[in-house]
Amino acid sequence: MHVLMTGSSGLVGSALTAFLEGSGQTVRRLRRAPSDAADSTSWNPSDGTFAPGAFDGIDAVVHLAGESIASGRWSAARKRRIRDSRVTGTQRLCEALLRLDEPPAVFVSASAIGFYGDRGAARLDESSAPGTGFLPHVCREWEAAAAPLRERGLRVVHLRIGIVLDESGGALKQMLRRSGSASAVSWGRAIST
Ligand SMILES: NC(=O)c1ccc[n+]([C@@H]2O[C@H](COP(=O)([O-])OP(=O)(O)OC[C@H]3O[C@@H](n4cnc5c(N)ncnc54)[C@H](OP(=O)(O)O)[C@@H]3O)[C@@H](O)[C@H]2O)c1
Repeated sequence: MHVLMTGSSGLVGSALTAFLEGSGQTVRRLRRAPSDAADSTSWNPSDGTFAPGAFDGIDAVVHLAGESIASGRWSAARKRRIRDSRVTGTQRLCEALLRLDEPPAVFVSASAIGFYGDRGAARLDESSAPGTGFLPHVCREWEAAAAPLRERGLRVVHLRIGIVLDESGGALKQMLRRSGSASAVSWGRAIST
């Protein structure tokens, strides 16, 4: 398959790219920074401009892009970037796919367990209702932004990813910088607020 991937340079995207390419698939990296690399193309998630040919010959899109939630204090401006980079970025990408004569069959889009919010010890699954608060709200808008593709008949998959633990980045790298389990607890509280 020929896969177009946003966020390919991130923690999840770099591992997924290596996995897909290692199994014989082709990944075209859709990055914000223009690149001359043969395996890359570029876009602007805010205004929805795409480099010519970005969508040529693709079978599937994996959409992982979004402002990091694990680095930096959640100021009002940062929360806006966390939300807009996901919701507006997904809207712009979906609009572009809808303009194609032959859109890809599958759109796989990151979401997060943040969809559910902090529900204590309640057992939750994909049929559970969303929680309340900032992250559940963002996740709902983020997932809803891809609805027009489903209406057009594409298979749309929302990955409600849990906290990815890898020493090279993301939450675990932040937690390892500090000592003791208290930091892990406070990080968990911060992301479920
Ligand atoms: N890691 C986790 O624990 C976790 C948990 C739940 C959900 N998720 C979700 O899964 C997705 C991938 O996670 P990740 O940990 O791989 O993320 P990441 O390492 O922060 O990488 C995200 C990628 O998104 C692009 N990006 C960064 N800032 C952006 C902005 N302001 N606007 C648009 N694109 C931006 C960058 O790609 P380019 O520079 O190449 O454009 C970056 O490499 C994210 O949407 C995240 O919310 C992750």
